[in-house]
Amino acid sequence: MSDAAQTKTLQRGSSKNQQAGGKAPLRVAVPSVLSVSDLYKSYHKGRLDVPVLKGIDIQIHEAEFTTIIGQSGSGKSTLLHLLGTLDAPDKGEIWFQERRIDNLPPRQKERIRNRDFGMIFQFYHLLPELTTLENVLIPRMVQDNFFAYMRNKKKYTERAKELLDIVGLSHRINHRPSEMSGGEMQRTAIARALISKPSILLADEPTGNLDEESGGEVMNTLMSLQQTENLTIVMVTHDNAIADKADRVIRLVDGKVTHC
Ligand SMILES: Nc1ncnc2c1ncn2[C@@H]1O[C@H](COP(=O)(O)OP(=O)(O)OP(=O)(O)O)[C@@H](O)[C@H]1O
Ligand SMILES: [Mg+2]
Repeated sequence: MSDAAQTKTLQRGSSKNQQAGGKAPLRVAVPSVLSVSDLYKSYHKGRLDVPVLKGIDIQIHEAEFTTIIGQSGSGKSTLLHLLGTLDAPDKGEIWFQERRIDNLPPRQKERIRNRDFGMIFQFYHLLPELTTLENVLIPRMVQDNFFAYMRNKKKYTERAKELLDIVGLSHRINHRPSEMSGGEMQRTAIARALISKPSILLADEPTGNLDEESGGEVMNTLMSLQQTENLTIVMVTHDNAIADKADRVIRLVDGKVTHC
């Protein structure tokens, strides 16, 4: 399945990609960066098999913002975890940049996660004793050995400060998580997810723990990063208003895609 360059119609909830004057929507070739075919996943509860994903086919296109929406329990997080190689499907295939990734050995999956995927979740998982800047640098500290990290520290710090500027936290770099709002902590988590320049950001309900205003700010931050970092974003959300701002909405109902 190497359908890397598909021709599709760009759509967006807003009219961002539509031509003015009621003309037909623009048709452009957008490479598909993540492809999922015939994906199945069940969990085992005692002797019971609980089917969660029941034959999912989706394409995620490069530099697009895709949201996955659906009721609680419909399988959104399960699908996102499979896309991020955090879990393996029972059946089906996941391809990333023309390479099958669902069946790779653990170390290769880890390398893809570190290098190509950034992830954010509903809870921010910041280390309370570290400053904002240090929290953003953590993935680099973990991925590099000590000497490589020290050699590149200046470059990493510049990148971290640049990201904190984009997410609007330049004035908070020496604060600790306990001194920040939920929205600020989530924007720190976004900067941390992007420190290693991933090509894809996978986000599981990043606005789920925030009030409407902070959630809107996080969404605006993600949309601006999509442009400045040429980022592909896949975001799970419960919120229809937030989902509609994305380029494409995938709706899951009971483990199947009903709208794509
Ligand atoms: N590790 C697990 N073991 C057993 N069952 C699980 C596990 N993870 C998820 N499930 C079950 O799979 C189904 C789908 O879960 P999932 O977390 O993907 O849903 P979701 O759409 O993300 O829901 P929510 O909107 O509440 O986060 C649920 O019925 C859940 O109970
Ligand atoms: Mg979930």
